[in-house]
Amino acid sequence: MCGIVGYLGSKKTKDILLDGLSELEYRGYDSAGIAVLQNNNFSVFKAVGKLVNLQEKAATFDPSGFAIGIGHTRWATHGKPTELNAHPHLGESSYVVHNGIIENYAALKRNLQEDGIKFLSQTDTEVIVHLFEKELKSSGSVFNAFTKTISQLHGAFAILLVTKSESDTIFFAKQGSPMIVGRDTEDEKYFASSDTPLIGKCSEVIYLDDGDYGYVTPSEISIFDKNAHKKAPHFSKLSTNKLSAQKNGFRFFMEKEIYEQSEVIIDTLMGRISDNEINFEELDSNLFEGINEIKLCACGTSYHSALASSYLFERYAKIRVSVEIASEFRYKEPLLCKDTLFVAISQSGETADTLETLKMAKEAGLKTLVLCNVDNSSMVRLADASILTRAGIEKGVASTKAFATQVVVFWMLTLYIAKIKNSLTPNEIEKQISLLREIPSVLQIKDGLHEKITRLSKRYLHGHGFFFIGRDVFYPLALEGALKLKEISYLHAEGYPSGEMKHGPIALADPELFTIALLPQHMLYEKSKSNVEELSARDSTICAISPIEFDKADDYIKISNVRDYMLEFFEMMVIVQLLSMEIAIRLGNDVDMPRNLAKSVTVE
Ligand code: AGP
Repeated sequence: MCGIVGYLGSKKTKDILLDGLSELEYRGYDSAGIAVLQNNNFSVFKAVGKLVNLQEKAATFDPSGFAIGIGHTRWATHGKPTELNAHPHLGESSYVVHNGIIENYAALKRNLQEDGIKFLSQTDTEVIVHLFEKELKSSGSVFNAFTKTISQLHGAFAILLVTKSESDTIFFAKQGSPMIVGRDTEDEKYFASSDTPLIGKCSEVIYLDDGDYGYVTPSEISIFDKNAHKKAPHFSKLSTNKLSAQKNGFRFFMEKEIYEQSEVIIDTLMGRISDNEINFEELDSNLFEGINEIKLCACGTSYHSALASSYLFERYAKIRVSVEIASEFRYKEPLLCKDTLFVAISQSGETADTLETLKMAKEAGLKTLVLCNVDNSSMVRLADASILTRAGIEKGVASTKAFATQVVVFWMLTLYIAKIKNSLTPNEIEKQISLLREIPSVLQIKDGLHEKITRLSKRYLHGHGFFFIGRDVFYPLALEGALKLKEISYLHAEGYPSGEMKHGPIALADPELFTIALLPQHMLYEKSKSNVEELSARDSTICAISPIEFDKADDYIKISNVRDYMLEFFEMMVIVQLLSMEIAIRLGNDVDMPRNLAKSVTVE
């Protein structure tokens, strides 16, 4: 995920910016840059890859005395990780850095291009600085031009802008992406998109609210709210613990990542949904020409997201889908036909088994697509097309937010194909899109839920095994719940289709067999309920997750009364993630680094 830093003052501006960026490295990035304005001259450095490349480029640059500067680490969303696409972005005499996505950038860019403005990058960010300079020509003041600029931006953003027209001022705006202003001595100001770059540098900070914008100068911090009312700055004391700041106060990265899911889905959706259609700018419309089948191939959690989406592809896009475990697919001598689109799914884009299957598909002449979280990864470079899931860096070995974003991208892809194939009516597509928009709110963890799961978890620390069970898309979710639990708790857990229990596994049922039953009201409720009753009758200990109270269960976790099974899917997903995590924590395990596992499995 992108990171922002800014500094105004008389200390070593370059060092402060580069140090700040290095504190943001843990978030993941693929290019970086800084712009320093001193004595009305800009010095700008950008580099692809690790920060050390940027440090080398700026090695002989040593500004001393008063300066203002902005810096950025970029995690590519619009356009490849190149120097031209790296921030800060230049207008004629101003630079901007930006986190988030400007949803209406394409329309803004078209208008600016019609006015004769030339764009250097493929990013959405560059429109901000050109728009600002256009407004500057007709506005009475620089701040007025900045205000008019941000009022035209839709989407999520945190922005810093510096300009020669006011060379002792940093302009800022925050909408949906975090931004913090800090100060140490009165005439020194700092900015960062998270606490860590500020720790040890500032004593107090202001956490900006959505809609806030304004400017800082050596003598002033001016903040306006979304209604253009001036706000009194509200300073808070800054924590001094960097690791806990990186974890945002959560005990584990995994916990932080579970909580982040609501926010990252906004990024996943951004720019890709409108009222009545799905738009994947990264896809060529002829990718699906001549395609009669889709083959999804992945490992672990990514395999589960593929399996869940296979239900959606057949149900909505009416296209034949097969799902393969990469390590199996490699050696089964598969029949590969040219009317099949081969889709590899991987959080890292480096998993050896999946990468090899992608090579096989390419060699067989199939069209290939990758769903991945890491731009420029081996799979993204190899495939004909790629869609980034935009989950931001995932540190917990047990994947959570990467899974959520994969399922969301697949759901969107289903609708994208449904439109091409006319398999859903425009009204049905609109309804599905309105459901997609509800995911972020469904993923917010409701008051009391986590506490309840923590309390319940103490009853599930022993036994001879867990069965997570569900039907339809809740079966892959059951597989994923079981995988989460075994990865971090080291307890034996299996995911099973609810209807399949009676064909064998029910023989294991006794009070020491724990069943985690996924019982959505909008997908085969009665059938699933009967399957759980069969287990309850044989005395298995049951924890039911459902919007409908279930009196045959020993424990019951209630989900909201949402209007579609896919929304129930996401709410249940959070519950199984939290339950697994709380059981593992009670067992004393390091849930971020479970034994025997690695984040990226680059061996066969
Ligand atoms: C998920 O919790 C696992 N750590 C693991 O199953 C993972 O999903 C699998 O190794 C695939 O990784 P990838 O998505 O990076 O290809």
